[in-house]
Amino acid sequence: MHDRNDWMDAELVATRDYGPDIRLFEIAPAGGTLAYEPGSHINIAVEIAGQQDVRSYSLVGLPRRGVYRIAVKHVRPSRGGSAWLHSLLPGARLRITAPRNHFPLQHGASSYLLIAGGIGITPLLGMAQVLKQRGADVRLLYAAQRCRDLALAAEIEAALGERASFFISEDGNRLNLQAALSDFPTDGDIYFCGPARMLQGLREAMAALGRPQSSLRFETFGSGGLRPEESFWVRIPRLGVEVTVPPGRSMLDALDAAGVEVMSECRRGECGLCTVDVMELQGEIDHRDVFLSDHQKRENSRLCACVSRAVQGGVVIDTSWRAGQ
Ligand code: FES
Repeated sequence: MHDRNDWMDAELVATRDYGPDIRLFEIAPAGGTLAYEPGSHINIAVEIAGQQDVRSYSLVGLPRRGVYRIAVKHVRPSRGGSAWLHSLLPGARLRITAPRNHFPLQHGASSYLLIAGGIGITPLLGMAQVLKQRGADVRLLYAAQRCRDLALAAEIEAALGERASFFISEDGNRLNLQAALSDFPTDGDIYFCGPARMLQGLREAMAALGRPQSSLRFETFGSGGLRPEESFWVRIPRLGVEVTVPPGRSMLDALDAAGVEVMSECRRGECGLCTVDVMELQGEIDHRDVFLSDHQKRENSRLCACVSRAVQGGVVIDTSWRAGQ
């Protein structure tokens, strides 16, 4: 038996491609798998430019004996985790954690609306399967930019049949969140997983319809911003440190590599633990988190170092502020 906080050895036993960008990985932990609830993820130690880092990946579907399954989109440009995983062949050795769940499915709602953006389908597949098994009233909306990004469409269709709807933007079939929500019972629960900008659109649609945000549970991924990634500098006068953050690397990782410790947890711009004070800004901040309010983002006095970036310049920061202070 292993503890859920332990890192353990594991082996990549099989892969399967869903189109050119998305690959399913079957990972067998030494000592066997643990049961997990839908919404769970595992952490994987990845290697980026010769350095160890950690990435979280949602587990796909219901538990299978002996393996954990994750689906990873090869993001270009990426912080490097997806590229490293896509370079692995079956037989590769990995270090992983046991499943953890920060995105649990709450039972007992009158109805459920699951909304996935792209690879955000991964935690929602298991939720759809469990809800269907329990006879719950569930609908799933699965949106992607391109048809090839609808990685788990066949599994979703098998689980939900006509209760699932698919939207492909490049075909002109874009998901209209406000229209979708207007048909959904007001006392139902909404689960979302997708990019932060889509979450923002969902929140705005809910606000426009007067729906309580408390009925929304979400997880975001990636770091899709409003601006393309470019290099920027970060200066911390208190520590006498200056680092350059290149495209494809987070400010959090760059600071960490320079020996500057910044607390972090989700690394997806959700928890706010990595938030730092901005003392001076040259250029703009591309806020990519869902933790700070719109007002705070406009003020540019804080930023989430795990996902947000500066463009056309850099930031002078202090790392002493901590969430909750
Ligand atoms: S670590 Fe959670 S918001 Fe950055």
